[in-house]
Amino acid sequence: MTDTATSTPSDAVLHLLPLLTRLTLEQKAALVQGADFWTTVAIPEIGLRAMTLSDGPAGVRGPRWDEREPSLNLPSGSALAASWDVDLAYRYGAAAASEARRKGVDVVLGPTINLHRSPLGGRHFECFSEDPELTAELAAAYVRGLQDNGVAACPKHYVANDSETDRFTVDVRVDERALRELYLAPFERAVEQAGAWTIMSAYNAVDGVTMTENELLETPLNSEWGFDGTVISDWTAVRSLAAVPAAQDLAMPGPAPAWADLVDAIRDGRVAEADLDRKVLRLLLLAERVGALGDAEPLEPAPLDGPAFARAAAIDGTVLLRNDGVLPLATAALGRVAVIGQNAREARTQGGGSATVIPEAVVSPLEALRAALPGAEVRFALGAVVQEGVSEIPLDQLTNPATGEAGVRVAFFDAEGTELFAENRRSTALVWFGGDAPISASATVVFETLYTPAETGDIELGFAGANPGRLFVDDVLVLDDSPVIEGTDLGAAFLNPPSITATVHVEAGRETAVRVEFARADAGALSGALSATLGIAPERTDPDELIARAVAEAEASDVAVVVVGTNARVESEGYDRTSLDLPGRQDDLVRAVAATGTPTIVVVNAGSPVVLPWADEVDAVVQGYFGGQEFGHAIADVLTGAAEPGGRLPTTWPASLADVPVTDVTPQGGRLDYREGLHIGYRAWLRDGDAAAPAFPFGHGLGYTSWAFGSAQRIGDALEVTLENTGDRPGKQVVQVYAERADSAVERPVRWLVGFAPVQATPGETVTATIPVPARRLAHWAGEWVVEPGAYTLRVGASVADLPLTLAWHTEGAPA
Ligand code: BGC
Repeated sequence: MTDTATSTPSDAVLHLLPLLTRLTLEQKAALVQGADFWTTVAIPEIGLRAMTLSDGPAGVRGPRWDEREPSLNLPSGSALAASWDVDLAYRYGAAAASEARRKGVDVVLGPTINLHRSPLGGRHFECFSEDPELTAELAAAYVRGLQDNGVAACPKHYVANDSETDRFTVDVRVDERALRELYLAPFERAVEQAGAWTIMSAYNAVDGVTMTENELLETPLNSEWGFDGTVISDWTAVRSLAAVPAAQDLAMPGPAPAWADLVDAIRDGRVAEADLDRKVLRLLLLAERVGALGDAEPLEPAPLDGPAFARAAAIDGTVLLRNDGVLPLATAALGRVAVIGQNAREARTQGGGSATVIPEAVVSPLEALRAALPGAEVRFALGAVVQEGVSEIPLDQLTNPATGEAGVRVAFFDAEGTELFAENRRSTALVWFGGDAPISASATVVFETLYTPAETGDIELGFAGANPGRLFVDDVLVLDDSPVIEGTDLGAAFLNPPSITATVHVEAGRETAVRVEFARADAGALSGALSATLGIAPERTDPDELIARAVAEAEASDVAVVVVGTNARVESEGYDRTSLDLPGRQDDLVRAVAATGTPTIVVVNAGSPVVLPWADEVDAVVQGYFGGQEFGHAIADVLTGAAEPGGRLPTTWPASLADVPVTDVTPQGGRLDYREGLHIGYRAWLRDGDAAAPAFPFGHGLGYTSWAFGSAQRIGDALEVTLENTGDRPGKQVVQVYAERADSAVERPVRWLVGFAPVQATPGETVTATIPVPARRLAHWAGEWVVEPGAYTLRVGASVADLPLTLAWHTEGAPA
């Protein structure tokens, strides 16, 4: 099944042939494997410096996972997609380019453009949409935004990596039409239209062949789409030398064990040197593009006001799901406001896993509402515990015993107890994944800090990590245990580790010496890495009591804002969700607050759909996603009406998990069959006429003004749509165009998105949106792209379920 990639050099690399001839076999073999976790090999003799690769994609972490080098934390992928705004996606890519340059990064490992096949997918928050057209347009814009500023994009994960269960081995079976029309389509656009310089090959297999060896790397990627870039493996996804004749170019991280034998394999003829040369030429081309070869200087990216951009992007991706008129708030009339919910105080601004970046500061909704409502008394109630396990201890309560400054001293010891290395850190949640600390050589890693609690009482003090640990409080051993790792995904245990705690009594203002000693267990492929947190788990207050206190606050207030959400154990890389329910007692909390009769606004802080069984009982529901570091300000702007929520759902929201058409994310016998074929997302909901209606359809979202769709007319291969802002505020609308084909000779979705455009208008203003509808948007895959000739119907409106304008659209039909 493995296809040999063509070894004839493409025109784009011909000028690099003289450089290739100057390299030894050993140098070439080293070049196609990373030098370490995040960098490629440098070869100074030919003017090649190392290139640095880094996650995002919602910001750029940089090669070190370190709070002393913070990153801009942008809203997650699903929030960006909710903007339906290609210009915003371009600026988002450009912002990532600025961050990349600031951190010396040449390749940003994103965007993540797998699809929301099921809302249970663990990396749903990172991906854009259930729709390939929306995903493709945003992906292409993000790639251009990065690359126009000289930084390579790496759209990932190619392909059919749409869920996390058994992600390293799952063999996805998907029919060719669904593969082409759905899962490959965003990659096609990112390559053909935006010219992506790299692509990441996925962990999974498709049709029995692991993606780093799969012929899909050659066709369609190279042969049909003209990709001349570098295929970078997902981390450790290269399994054997069979990836050499395949079009897999760079094995990361390096040196890659699976290619340790590469030089010998070429010498004894098991692998052709021409296959290696082809990879080297592509890497040299990448180096040239990012300014890592010869005298070329990297492009200077446009200047960036990171927090301002993050705030604007979050506003544009916030979706007002429901509003009985309570929003925007009549701020002048508010005397007292109850802000309720753990996520109001400890917002989740991003999902878990490799996408994590460390922001300098995060603005919580509580903090932002206090700032936005200076005339009101804003009071907080926890209401329900949402976060599980320990969270880092606030920096302002910690003193580093070595320096006397805020923070913690971390020391690394070998097996003999000799201190090898120490550093002063400003966080108690630390990850070493690359960087200077001698992780592999250390037997013990010790955190030491002086903790001065703000309140007196019993706390749950403990640690999280994949290693055994011993916790001492004022030199007394209080915990000597190992957190239990669930599941087999080491990466998940690493990035989102389990935790254990002991109940410890503390006194407000009294300094307490805290020391935790982590023993380093062998972590296999992650042996050069370590993840360890010293922290405090949520208090163990009676849940009914927490709700009662929140109800009392709501009763005494003019309005209640309840921020509900998910936690790190629910939405992360490494595992899928098993439920769409909000964790803990949050549903009970919302119902109890709404029952007080105080106007109740619910803000959802989740990267993926969650079930909101009380949606009709509250006055407004705002989906704020994982809104990035400025999440709180964006929510305050939207609630007060300082800004209009700009988002529309990029994915259908179900009323219950039982209604969801595609929930199968667990492989059977190693295989995951995409049995639903073309019918994912709204296509699946529409297909079964008797199916329950979703809670909120694809494309849905309200603003603070009203709109009337006027007319739609065809101009060549574009549609001109006029609409009027009939309300009394300026606003944004997203014009959505769907196609239908009643008498198709082939199976089709009931309707599918073919184009969209966000528009802005002032009160009374009529605006025209011009939306291209090239024939290809009507095509289906039948071994090639085919456009059935004849009549289609285009339907235009504000969501897949709200389409006031209809237009007959005739096409002659032709190969697209
Ligand atoms: C993830 C990738 C990520 C890589 C490097 C992998 O586990 O699937 O998305 O870019 O790690 O962190």
